Amino acid sequence: MERVAINEEVVKPEFGASVNKIISMLLTPSILEKWLINHGFTAQREYTLELLLQHFSPFCQKHQLLLQGYFSGLNTLNGIANQFINYLGYRHLDFDAETMFSNAVDYVRDAEKEIEKILNQRTAQNKLNVLGFGLGDGLYEEKIKSKLLSTGLYNEVNLYGYDPITLDSFTKGINKITKADLEIMKQDPIIDVIITRWVLHHTSLDHRWNDLTLAINACRSKADIIIVEESSLVPTSASRTYENKLEELILGIFDVIVNMGLHPHWFQGENEGSFFLKYLYQEDFKFIESKISRLYHKHKQTLDYSIHSQQIIHYALIPFY
Ligand SMILES: C[S@@+](CC[C@H](N)C(=O)[O-])C[C@H]1O[C@@H](n2cnc3c(N)ncnc32)[C@H](O)[C@@H]1O
Repeated sequence: MERVAINEEVVKPEFGASVNKIISMLLTPSILEKWLINHGFTAQREYTLELLLQHFSPFCQKHQLLLQGYFSGLNTLNGIANQFINYLGYRHLDFDAETMFSNAVDYVRDAEKEIEKILNQRTAQNKLNVLGFGLGDGLYEEKIKSKLLSTGLYNEVNLYGYDPITLDSFTKGINKITKADLEIMKQDPIIDVIITRWVLHHTSLDHRWNDLTLAINACRSKADIIIVEESSLVPTSASRTYENKLEELILGIFDVIVNMGLHPHWFQGENEGSFFLKYLYQEDFKFIESKISRLYHKHKQTLDYSIHSQQIIHYALIPFY
């Protein structure tokens, strides 16, 4: 795979030149397409690729200063993502959610397999309490519940859901949990499994750590906490090269397109403006770990899909004896 040489350390004195090179690539769909194909985009992702080339390059043409600011550290990825959401919003686009989902199916399926592998290794227990943290509608958690019941390891599986944004749209049968409930549960833990898929990079920083660590500290002995996140291959945000920033920008733009396609209602009405985007780095996981009040084993796995790489982080709490 040919990589554009844009190491920040090496090219710092020529910041303008290298950033201009990246921006001119973003403005030209045919060159951007080549870069994406070099970065692992296959025909399978054709629809999202087409949408990105069709909408992001014209957006870049309008917002070159914003992009300059992003690469120089003045503007955040979240700022660009929200400008792009506004840009798409004005065009009243109607994405084809089914095709969009089938484009994303490989990494969703593989991440689900890994989650199931972890859950299938648990020891039998009469009643299992599963918390979907940032679960959206909870349909995935319902699927997990049926699979868990079919293993015969549990007589009862109860679902709990924490998601302040979609609180009113959970599917039936999921117990809604608020922050106040988590505070109470911390005194008398009941959760055995937390699943949080593609949530933390959408959780604003004032909630990201406190709420998740509160949930972890509301877990019973032998709990499994399973986090699925995109990207986060870079140790710290400060160690990113321009190329890493470019990869993150493209990933973020895909994130906007895919979420707008799959969940258009998240971008309208009451939820309008609540889309947040900031990927995690290894330093962020260290921070989460510093807040866990119990001993744990950590297992980490990367599913490599180039810029869409998925991280599966599993904390297995060690029981008190
Ligand atoms: C990309 S979606 C993932 C949904 C679901 N976990 C799934 O796998 O389909 C991100 C989710 O994060 C939720 N979210 C945003 N801020 C949050 C917060 N402060 N606490 C918990 N969830 C949050 C959003 O409402 C949304 O449901």
